[in-house]
Amino acid sequence: MKGKKIVVGVTGGIAAYKTAELVRLLTKADALVQVAMTSNACRFVTPMTFEALTGSRVIYDMMRQEGPDMEHITWGQEADLIIVAPATANFIAKMALGIGDDFLSTMLLAATAKVLVCPSMNTRMFLNPAVQNNIILLKERGITVMEPGKGELACRTTGPGRLPEPFEIVELAHSMLTLPDLSGLNILVTAGPTVEPIDPVRFISNRSSGKMGYAIAKAARRRGAAVTLVSGPTALTPPFGVNFHPVKTAEEMKQAVFDKYTGCDIIIKAAAVADYRPREFAGQKIKKGADTLSIDLVRNPDILSELGKLKRKSSCILVGFAAETEDLFLNARKKLQEKNLDMIVANDVSRSDAGFETDTNIVKMIFSDGSIEESQLMSKDEVADLILERSKSLFEMANS
Ligand code: CTP
Repeated sequence: MKGKKIVVGVTGGIAAYKTAELVRLLTKADALVQVAMTSNACRFVTPMTFEALTGSRVIYDMMRQEGPDMEHITWGQEADLIIVAPATANFIAKMALGIGDDFLSTMLLAATAKVLVCPSMNTRMFLNPAVQNNIILLKERGITVMEPGKGELACRTTGPGRLPEPFEIVELAHSMLTLPDLSGLNILVTAGPTVEPIDPVRFISNRSSGKMGYAIAKAARRRGAAVTLVSGPTALTPPFGVNFHPVKTAEEMKQAVFDKYTGCDIIIKAAAVADYRPREFAGQKIKKGADTLSIDLVRNPDILSELGKLKRKSSCILVGFAAETEDLFLNARKKLQEKNLDMIVANDVSRSDAGFETDTNIVKMIFSDGSIEESQLMSKDEVADLILERSKSLFEMANS
């Protein structure tokens, strides 16, 4: 969001306290944020809160002339995006009717920026036909209206009406500011480790954090793709807007991938699948006894190889990862060929700044035509965009 101008409009609902976190996340993402508040919003949170978070003046009274002229026109025309959060039933009605009786509503009337409205109110209020009709009107005019979350509300009722979590709003805002160049594509991503149980309290797994796969799923979603993420256990929150399928074992991952792969245009297998699992699951906790203990392991299915065999019948692009500690290129190229892939992303996991658990990565992308491309050391988000860029080109070539 670096350099993007975002105006956040705060209206008078209890969820206004969450908008402080929203503004914080937007500024952390390097957006240039300005805040406008209705007078009722100022009863819930003070303008000073937002001034401290953004470092710039908050406008809440149109008649108090403190800044340059015509800010009710310029703010909405210079911004890339306006987010109204929370948007009360009353404010949504004003937007639908074209009423401009304060700074925020007037600014929206003159705005040329994209607009994201995040309703937040009591469930009955939200479901009221008048509110629903107003929301339909806003959508018909090209305004994005975010579905409120469901759950326990501040008014102690349960149902739709919660302001979505700030990180979810940021994610939708990010998508609205990103060129949807993957729109129309179905992308399946696998991520994280698999976990192979030994007994009810122990398992075999690996050090994959899932960060790379989650970054790919998030970036693909932002760029407009329909994304399915099949993930082993991780400490990460599933990216907003992806179809999320948590699994534990390699067998479960295989099942989920094969359930979902029909109709996929691109499959990116970033998961670190355990190659072996214990032959038997001990139903009870194994007690210590002898000095040594052997656990018999059997091979897990190689999901990517099986997909590679099926690929001959489809135009789906298959991208694998190779986690290596030695002979990076040779090992990765062997996997590319043996698994019948279009591209393999080779990772030297012995480096401290790449591979498992890190926030950065440096990769070698090897293609089925023999070409190779090496990335700089980048954030996993940047690597994700690069991998998607190359996958998209491969898809376009295969389908031209
Ligand atoms: N993979 C898979 N199923 C497995 C093992 C790996 O689908 N049982 C996929 C991974 O998701 C990755 C690629 O195959 O995209 C390579 O995984 P990696 O662990 O680097 O290599 P392996 O094929 O398991 O070979 P080795 O462990 O011998 O290096």
